[in-house]
Formats: sequence, C-alpha cells, structure tokens
Amino acid sequence: MKIIMLGAPGAGKGTQAEMIAEKYDLPHISTGDIFRANIKAGTELGNKAKAYMDKGQLVPDSLTIDLVMDRLSQPDCDGGYILDGFPRTIPQAVSLTKALRDRGETLDYAINVHVPDERIVSRMSGRRACSGCGQTYHMVFAPPKTEGICNKCGSELFLRDDDKPETVKKRLAVYHNQTQPLIEYYGKQRILRTVDGTKDMEDVFQDITNILGA
Ligand code: AP5
Ligand code: MG
Repeated sequence: MKIIMLGAPGAGKGTQAEMIAEKYDLPHISTGDIFRANIKAGTELGNKAKAYMDKGQLVPDSLTIDLVMDRLSQPDCDGGYILDGFPRTIPQAVSLTKALRDRGETLDYAINVHVPDERIVSRMSGRRACSGCGQTYHMVFAPPKTEGICNKCGSELFLRDDDKPETVKKRLAVYHNQTQPLIEYYGKQRILRTVDGTKDMEDVFQDITNILGA
C-alpha cells in the first residue's frame, strides 16, 4: 500500500503516519525528519535546509525531489510506504506521479488530516520532539511518562525551532499557498480521503483504518 499524508503543519500527519506504519508494517518516510537528521549530523544538505526551515519556508524542490525519489527506490519500499510531508508542492506531486507511472505504479490513498488554523498554533507550542529517536509528544495531549524524557529511548525532549508561534504562522501561510492545491490535485485522481484531525488521536486513527481496511 502506498499512502501520502496531507495536512497543515501540526495537523497530526506525523502522529498518524507513525501509527499507520506500525499497524500496516510500512516504512514511514518523513521529509521533515530526514532534513532534521541532516541538520543534526551537520551535512551540506542539512545546512542548506536549515536556512529555509528556520524561516518557515519550504526547502527548494531541487533539493527535495531527488532525495525522496532516491529513498523510494530502496528495497524496503518495494511493498509500499507512507510518505509524510511529501509532496507539498505541485511540482513535487507531478514528479511523484511521473516516477510511479514509469514503474507502472500508482498511489493508493492521499489521507488529508484536516485541522482549522486556529487550533494549530496552540497545538504546536505544546509539541516536544525527542532529540534521540524523533518521537513526538504533546505536553497536554500526549505527555511522556517522565517530564522532558522520551519513553522510547530516554533522550531529552526539545521544542522545535520552527514551532515558535511567529514561525508557525508563516508555515501556515506557506501551506495555504503551496500545499493546499494538492487537495484538488489528489481529488481529481480520486484517491483523496479527508479525516477530521480535531478528534482525539485514537479516533482519528480509527477513521483512517476504516479507510485503509483492517
Ligand atoms: P515537517 O516536519 O513535515 O513539518 P510540518 O508539515 O510543518 O508538520 P509537522 O511535523 O509540524 O506537523 P504534523 O502534521 O506532523 O503534526 P504532529 O503529528 O507532529 O516539515 C518541517 C519543515 O521541513 C517544513 O516547514 C519545510 O521547511 C521542510 N520540508 C519538509 N518536507 C518538505 C518538502 N516536501 N518540501 C519542501 N520543504 C519540506 O502533531 C503536532 C502536535 O500535535 C504534536 O505535539 C502531537 O502530539 C499533537 N497532536 C497530534 N494529533 C493530535 C490530536 N488528534 N489531538 C491533539 N493533539 C494532537
Ligand atoms: Mg511531522
């Protein structure tokens, strides 16, 4: 099964993708996580990406598309995957459609997690990410067992640089301009399914599994 996750920053794409990956045994490919891992490792790609991410802008398509295509050609993707945070521009979506078509493949679902803007900013300020394994928490909605420490690997949790309210507002504007048009793009391909992302995480996941099947 090949799935992409659509939705505004903070809608819960990563949270749901993680749960889907586990239930359906699919690799979870998050471009944001790949960029953050490169920033942490101090690679050239990471240094370039950081300049855009810190400002709430998108990393240019020229740096993003090849990176994802290369990742999708790895053997663990042969049985499908879940893409989280890609595509997020029309050129990225067109490249993905073409690459799949060349292999005689198509996407199965574009899951759009819908959350109105006014809920996003407060959600983001409560988010914490693990500095070790990248696991996501929320101080109110999904707290760790011990404050500030990851349940899975014991590393410290941190607030992402781009989760400050001013940057979140910029990311939302970028989302509406550049990513929201993908809703229509995948609607036309008849694979778009929209879920209400304001529900509890478990209820959102139930709605998604109803779409994907047991
Ligand atoms: P990326 O890391 O993809 O960020 P994003 O799309 O802005 O989305 P987030 O990860 O912030 O939110 P999410 O939807 O995953 O929500 P989460 O599950 O964490 O990208 C970061 C940057 O990298 C971009 O701004 C861009 O610069 C660059 N980039 C990445 N991909 C790119 C691409 N393809 N092209 C160009 N540039 C790219 O949930 C949010 C919080 O809410 C968490 O704390 C969570 O615990 C909580 N939560 C989740 N669900 C619920 C719920 N149902 N109820 C209550 N709380 C909830
Ligand atoms: Mg995410």
